[in-house]
Amino acid sequence: MEFKFRLLEPAEEPPIDLLLLADPSEKLVRDYLSRGSCYIASSSNEIIGVFVLLKTRPETIEIVNIAVREDYQGKGIGRKLIEFAKEQAKRDKAKTIEIGTGNSSIGQLYLYQKCGFRITGIDRDFFVRHYDEAIYENGIQCRDMIRLSLDL
Ligand code: ACO
Ligand code: ACO
Repeated sequence: MEFKFRLLEPAEEPPIDLLLLADPSEKLVRDYLSRGSCYIASSSNEIIGVFVLLKTRPETIEIVNIAVREDYQGKGIGRKLIEFAKEQAKRDKAKTIEIGTGNSSIGQLYLYQKCGFRITGIDRDFFVRHYDEAIYENGIQCRDMIRLSLDL
């Protein structure tokens, strides 16, 4: 499937519904958008994927949000978004790219490790501290953030 990547223009409305698939907190999503760069993948003028890159430390960039429209998931687009994010981070002179996901996000952990990320740590109770409501996924509670990184 053919799709194009581009940076969201400052005047453009961000694809909030898509971004909320990756993070149920609109407050955190808006905060990432204000500090990071939002890239969108579109096909025939429809937005089908999104990711946000944030410079967190010198030479380190984090993918803080990544999502594919539900009816397009499972077709390899998520993997392509990550490959493009890696290339963009290299162009931005980063040496390391990071990503974090919940302990319950089995598919995401599978995808990120298949893309070369390795687990570096665990931020215990991150989702308990930062979200008002308990999150359940794959039958288990999402409490801890699994941190992963990849040297570029
Ligand atoms: N269980 C097992 N494997 C899975 C699962 C799953 N639930 N989901 C994807 N995979 C595998 C696929 O089988 C594929 O492996 P393969 O190439 O060996 O067949 C690989 O992961 C890549 O799958 P894609 O089709 O590229 O993934 P997709 O286009 O669905 O995008 C994404 C993945 C972005 C996680 C998408 O499912 C999505 O938008 N989910 C909802 C939002 C979300 O959870 N975002 C991430 C939150 S964390 C963060 O934003 C930093
Ligand atoms: N992916 C997703 N879910 C799984 C998987 C999998 N690969 N394997 C099991 N599950 C889930 C089941 O769906 C079930 O969940 P549910 O109750 O919500 O449906 C739950 O895990 C329990 O499954 P069981 O059927 O009870 O597990 P099983 O009898 O297969 O025993 C075990 C699990 C011991 C890991 C077995 O598969 C095995 O012997 N594997 C090979 C040896 C091994 O890997 N041992 C562990 C190494 S680590 C160690 O020894 C400390």
